[in-house]
Amino acid sequence: MRRPYIAGNWKMNLDRASAIALATEVASQTTGIEGVDVALCPPSVYLDAVGSAISGSQVVMGAQNMYHQPEGAFTGELSAAMLLDVGCRCVILGHSERRHEIGESNEDVNKKVLAALAAGLEPIVCVGELLAEREAGTTGEVIRNQFDGSLAGVTAEQMSQITLAYEPVWAIGTGKVASPEQAEEVHLDLRKLMEDRYNSEVAQAVRIQYGGSVKPSNAAELLAKPNIDGCLIGGASLKADLFVPVIRAAAE
Ligand code: PGA
Repeated sequence: MRRPYIAGNWKMNLDRASAIALATEVASQTTGIEGVDVALCPPSVYLDAVGSAISGSQVVMGAQNMYHQPEGAFTGELSAAMLLDVGCRCVILGHSERRHEIGESNEDVNKKVLAALAAGLEPIVCVGELLAEREAGTTGEVIRNQFDGSLAGVTAEQMSQITLAYEPVWAIGTGKVASPEQAEEVHLDLRKLMEDRYNSEVAQAVRIQYGGSVKPSNAAELLAKPNIDGCLIGGASLKADLFVPVIRAAAE
């Protein structure tokens, strides 16, 4: 059985005081909820403060991005070691906003994945198709290309440190959630891909989150699907009274 994993991606939202308040609320409201992993991914300037706010709780912290180089003259960038140093356990890599807004390629994502793994930071690697790609019937191919490109050179042993997130781009922040069936189809494809590229042990162990307009009203039916092991949540992670019910649904 894969342990459900709910991660909140705060993106470029909140200020310092509200980040601390939200992290404190999530930490206290999840006390006693068992059988689920929970991560918060605040803007990097608030990592230190959020780390203090969740300290002693079951909530772990992740970053939204990193750079692949270990140190040096890379203005504006953060290394895996720096993220670990401020208490991060994980890092979101290859989010569609970074792929499509910032222009990150599979190769960029791949370098980051390898650097995170080498440093001991657990990557949450995102894949997902655009609406036009879904409509053109190329979802499977897009996912396969992103998987192979983003995970090139990752060993079977390293793969078990990774969480995958399927985030159809047309469902992110749009209120248009993928149906549980649409999501499950891609999750199953990802599972088969891991079986093919690695082995069945890896395929069965790696958790695959769904992301895209997840909220309390649709989480339970998504999480009921056999290959949906958690959620990566944007908008609904910005309010404890929307985020915590999804955590509860995953724990049930
Ligand atoms: P959303 O974002 O929940 O606001 O759709 C999900 C994500 O981008 O991770």
